[in-house]
Amino acid sequence: MTHSPIRPVCLLLVSALLASCGSPQPSPAPPGGTDTRPEGNYTDRWTLQEAMQIPVQKSAQTSTPAITDWPTVNFPQPNPRGLKKTLPGYHIWDTWPIRTLGGGVADIQLNDGKSYNVLIHLSVKEDVLPGKRHDIAALRYSYATDGKSWKLGAGDGLLFPKQDSFGSRNWAGSAVIADDGQVFVFYTATGEKGENFDAPLLPSRAGRGDIPSSALRGGLLPLSGSGAGDIQPGISYEQKIAVAWGPKLKVVGGQVIFDGAWRHKVILRADGTYYQTIQQSDVGDLYAFRDPWVFRDPADQKLYMLFEGNVGGIKSQQRCAPEDIGDAAYRASVQVPETARNWNGAIGLAVSAGNSAATGADLTASLTNWKLTPPLLTARCVNQELERPHFVFKDSKYYLFTSSHVKKFAEVGDLRERGAEGLYGFVGSGIRGNYTPLNAGGLVLNNPSTQDYQAYSYEVLPTPDPSRYLITSFIDSPGIGDRDIGEFASLPPEQQFRAFGGTLDKTHVLEITGSGTRLNGQLDYGQIKP
Ligand code: FRU
Repeated sequence: MTHSPIRPVCLLLVSALLASCGSPQPSPAPPGGTDTRPEGNYTDRWTLQEAMQIPVQKSAQTSTPAITDWPTVNFPQPNPRGLKKTLPGYHIWDTWPIRTLGGGVADIQLNDGKSYNVLIHLSVKEDVLPGKRHDIAALRYSYATDGKSWKLGAGDGLLFPKQDSFGSRNWAGSAVIADDGQVFVFYTATGEKGENFDAPLLPSRAGRGDIPSSALRGGLLPLSGSGAGDIQPGISYEQKIAVAWGPKLKVVGGQVIFDGAWRHKVILRADGTYYQTIQQSDVGDLYAFRDPWVFRDPADQKLYMLFEGNVGGIKSQQRCAPEDIGDAAYRASVQVPETARNWNGAIGLAVSAGNSAATGADLTASLTNWKLTPPLLTARCVNQELERPHFVFKDSKYYLFTSSHVKKFAEVGDLRERGAEGLYGFVGSGIRGNYTPLNAGGLVLNNPSTQDYQAYSYEVLPTPDPSRYLITSFIDSPGIGDRDIGEFASLPPEQQFRAFGGTLDKTHVLEITGSGTRLNGQLDYGQIKP
């Protein structure tokens, strides 16, 4: 494929100005080489042909049971069936445990002689309207000695003061603990430091958050994190990947605290070639450059990062390539509208620019300096948001998991009846190479058909038993049943609060065999140890 450079000045301008750059240059095609080393240029595709193998009728193999004792979950008092909020007083959603660099949940021995697990959550106070939470999200932490009875961190649980982190709000990421106890938290810095949700608009933000959402559809600006709800005046939407590091965990006065000062650094920005920038996202309703997940490759022992992105280049100029669709016979059998290119999700890969040492200053340098490489997997003309990508390593295979929303599947044929709010997965024999969608189409877990938006944002965690994995998620909006999520924002506020969970869901047990998976039972709410 030919890669035509885009004139850099054009990249900086909004689409209204593109005309003045002369005729737009074709955007680069996704890198399409054959080099399957992690830093190579081979990019696999989740093709339309593969995704169309997701069954319309979901079976017990992938469906979670409906939460029927729902309506009281949001009430402060525990209800008779034992449902309770994980962190009373807060909405929490995307959540991740502090892990070892090898990928397992870290059991952290602290100075009181006990072993702790620590979770990090996207969070807001419970009185925030659920749909607005993405616009002011902050990272909070909780800890437990039994892997399920989570206690809010010291103070009001904030990981670090809001003004210290990059972005005006922080979105999902991952966290690892080094052998010397130092914790590294990778997070998405969304918007710009200092922006204020409630503040009057500054002139510099004109043309960003102050445009009515109706003008944004098909326009330049993405909607907020989940894609639900209007754009919020006063804030901007660019996403960058950042790291915070420095403190070690310690028990003080019976509470687990992060002891020491955090340092923050922006480590990756979308480059416009491999990964789409916000300015290039000129059609469709959003873009992504977020959700870093850091790990040490069991094969070469180097440090890598997965993240969520979109195929680089101006979106309106992208085209569905034959290899996005499927083999020749399949291509001859489908009609793919040109607008399918508006769905161009990618799972990105960055390589540590350090020597990947196990501990000390070299490890710090490795975890705080990164280089972008081409996407591992793209889903152009198939799906727009491949969220919170992460790996499970099993039997020398790489199981790649990602969450996606039903409405983030392309409007092609009956794909949206096949896609679901759920967890998707692929298996490959290395970080970069050919991936096979699990269960043929890629679907691993879907919500029950009576409650399409019951839960979301999944992470698959290993257990000591190599055939059993645990899937964590948060309870999203079961209260809207099988109605369209678009109706959520028009409900009266008290109904929105009742329809929304903002708490950890029951953990699902997943069995993995080769390229097949099966849900097999549930554990307690928020349980991360078997
Ligand atoms: C998934 C997600 C993440 C993002 C966060 C924002 O639940 O869209 O990709 O980091 O929510 O709230």
